[in-house]
Amino acid sequence: MKPGTLKSRRGSAGDDEEASGGGEYSSFPLTPRRVYWWSSGLLKAVVALVILMAGVLIGLAGSANVSRYYYYSSMGSSSLSLQAEAGAEAANNNNNNGAGVVVPGATRSISRGGGGNSRKKKKMRMEDDDEAAAAGPPPPPVLLEFRGFVDPGPPWGHSMSDPELFWRASMAPRMEEYPFQRVPKVAFLFLTRGPLPFAPLWERFFRGHEGLYSVYVHAVPGYAGRYRRSSPFHGRQIPSREVSWGSITLVDAEKRLLANALLDWSNQRFVLVSESCVPVFNFRTVYEYLVNSAESYVESYNIDVPQCAGRYNPRMAPEILEEQWRKGSEWFELNRELAVDVVADQRYYALFRRHCTPSCYPDEHYIPTYLHLWHGARNANRTVTWVDWSRGGPHPARFGKAATTAAFVAAIRNNGTRCLYNGEPTTVCYLFARKFAPSALGTLLNLSTTLLDF
Ligand SMILES: *[C@@H]1O[C@H](CO)[C@@H](O)[C@H](O)[C@H]1NC(C)=O
Ligand SMILES: *[C@@H]1O[C@H](CO)[C@@H](O)[C@H](O)[C@H]1NC(C)=O
Ligand SMILES: *[C@@H]1O[C@H](CO)[C@@H](O)[C@H](O)[C@H]1NC(C)=O
Repeated sequence: MKPGTLKSRRGSAGDDEEASGGGEYSSFPLTPRRVYWWSSGLLKAVVALVILMAGVLIGLAGSANVSRYYYYSSMGSSSLSLQAEAGAEAANNNNNNGAGVVVPGATRSISRGGGGNSRKKKKMRMEDDDEAAAAGPPPPPVLLEFRGFVDPGPPWGHSMSDPELFWRASMAPRMEEYPFQRVPKVAFLFLTRGPLPFAPLWERFFRGHEGLYSVYVHAVPGYAGRYRRSSPFHGRQIPSREVSWGSITLVDAEKRLLANALLDWSNQRFVLVSESCVPVFNFRTVYEYLVNSAESYVESYNIDVPQCAGRYNPRMAPEILEEQWRKGSEWFELNRELAVDVVADQRYYALFRRHCTPSCYPDEHYIPTYLHLWHGARNANRTVTWVDWSRGGPHPARFGKAATTAAFVAAIRNNGTRCLYNGEPTTVCYLFARKFAPSALGTLLNLSTTLLDF
């Protein structure tokens, strides 16, 4: 069975469209009681005509409202077209990361390639829409339709503000089992300024693993990345806001990425990466490592130096005590439960917003401290993203063409040092590495077919 395919279908197939029959707006509730009042055939005809005209007008207004919610992606023919049909029909294509939910049944259809089917005019069920139409445009129906609820698809399909998005993303089911076949996916959250110089390497990394990953890109507002339609990055930019590095807006961007990714119920692990990050193992290894891990990978420590303990602000007490303060690389890896909690947290976020200001760097403290307070036992306290701080200074070392050799990358994969994975020692400690300069791309592409084994 295809990942994400529904196991069961709802019993009520063909309840609307086919049954209603008749003209285009035939399901508009003509009120027969009133018609019986008139004995004169002429009056009957006039009243019928007036009601018909009103029906046509309301119908047109209704379909205009609906068409506002037809979202077309930049991919043109393979667009995501969500069709509002009160309680029934939605045509929806899979996004380019695959693993859509196929909803069988006469009243639902997947239109891969956004063909004529989705453009076809739909009959409206005005009973349900009447009140909403009178009170203004109805809410976007995307989240009410099961397929859309399980995975709303490309993130541009929503128009939620941050508070609305975070609230929506903070929801978690209380049932243990899913009513569809859920194949866990790894969500790759690219926090970038714009271009992704290593996109060709990532494309090779992802190739052939559709349905097991999803990609979200946060770039500066207005930046439009151009990727081939077949690229995993195509159309994966989420609605973004301005980010200034070292400020709370960086945490906001991380939460925005997490929240968008949480809307897809199949995403189970969430990795934050930057444009200078590259994978150092193949997809299968990364996937198995993360999906089978009992812990999340957020670096977390507290040492008594100005750049760590020195950034603690006593005004955060009593919620955060000095000994509870933690620091770690912002490039996290979280499982779904922790991701939901991070997005849902308002209390500690507010403290960081107020009290972790200049030269505090909330992005290096907020998530490690929050996890330490509430989920310490579920954190491995180490990062899976390799970086070299050995040269000192405010920025880690950056590796270009000359420094990026096979031996160098091999040492990142395994230099003999062991770490714990699910309580057992392993030499596989890092799955990703930073920071690489764009000039390293050629070498890394060459290594991808040999050492990296993509
Ligand atoms: C990580 O740190 C927490 C305290 O925040 C601790 O409870 C937990 O055991 C540590 N995890 C590992 C794998 O050492
Ligand atoms: C291996 O890499 C780790 C992490 O970068 C480093 O701390 C350690 O010193 C390295 N060991 C050797 C033998 O190079
Ligand atoms: C990659 O491999 C090709 C073919 O072996 C070689 O010509 C090219 O110089 C290599 N590129 C880099 C950047 O190493």
